[in-house]
Amino acid sequence: MSLIVFHTIADCKAWLSEERAQKEGKSDTGFVPTMGYLHEGHASLIQKARAENDIVVVSIFVNPLQFGPSEDLDRYPRSLKQDLALCETLGVDLVFAPSVYEMYGETPIMTRIHVDQLGEYLCGASRPGHFDGVCTVVAKLFQIFAPTKAYFGKKDAQQWRILRRMVADLSIDVSIIPCPIVRENDGLAKSSRNVYLTAEQRREAPALQQALQQVLRRFQEGERNVDKLRDVAMDRLNAVPGLRLDYLSFVDDETLTKVMTVDEHHTVLCAVAAYFGSTRLIDNQELVGL
Ligand code: PAF
Repeated sequence: MSLIVFHTIADCKAWLSEERAQKEGKSDTGFVPTMGYLHEGHASLIQKARAENDIVVVSIFVNPLQFGPSEDLDRYPRSLKQDLALCETLGVDLVFAPSVYEMYGETPIMTRIHVDQLGEYLCGASRPGHFDGVCTVVAKLFQIFAPTKAYFGKKDAQQWRILRRMVADLSIDVSIIPCPIVRENDGLAKSSRNVYLTAEQRREAPALQQALQQVLRRFQEGERNVDKLRDVAMDRLNAVPGLRLDYLSFVDDETLTKVMTVDEHHTVLCAVAAYFGSTRLIDNQELVGL
């Protein structure tokens, strides 16, 4: 079957209900929500969705609700033609590429979904309202597609945890599937925003993962004190002239609250966000207790 591309919610719903009726019970739907400018990270999510489901849907929508007033909404990279070609190659059934008007109508949207606490730490502290925008659009997309499973990259460590909480709280019947971070050869996590980096910033950016790797090594050697693990990371990050740290945090894997030691029985998330010029990149490393 060749790729179907729809721009309206009504077309998607009509196609899906016909497809599900025809497949007579064999209609598990894997959903990969994206903002387009697809890279190998997205491809890995789509491949997993393809392997695990009967129907695969990808959405491509640069969601204005999740951008702050001084953020990069207008210059966010877009490449619909190449994205569709990649989706076709990967065997996607349906791509939904709506306009802002199709998603939100003429008047400003009045309903937003806010997940308390989880959405307020880490990136939520420096990007107020960002996760409300993410939750609102993802809830709306879940409503449209009623997927069985939805796939998210672990680079956005906070995003998938918030969405997992949102679907539990709202009894939305979908499994949130976090997938491994896909990296460039030098360790930089793949991100659509990497395209903004100058050549020099691109050379410096792998320091984020290098700092996390050094934390992991010290953790594996037995260090459990967060201040000491932080010092290890800061030594690497401070050595990068073009890097401006937003945060380096050690938080409980579930609650996202700060921890002072890494308890043997819990997983701690070491998360970092930093600016290279005006480009903000994030990365993280799970420190898994015994
Ligand atoms: O991770 C992203 O690309 C976006 O936050 C998402 C989940 C597609 C919602 O707009």
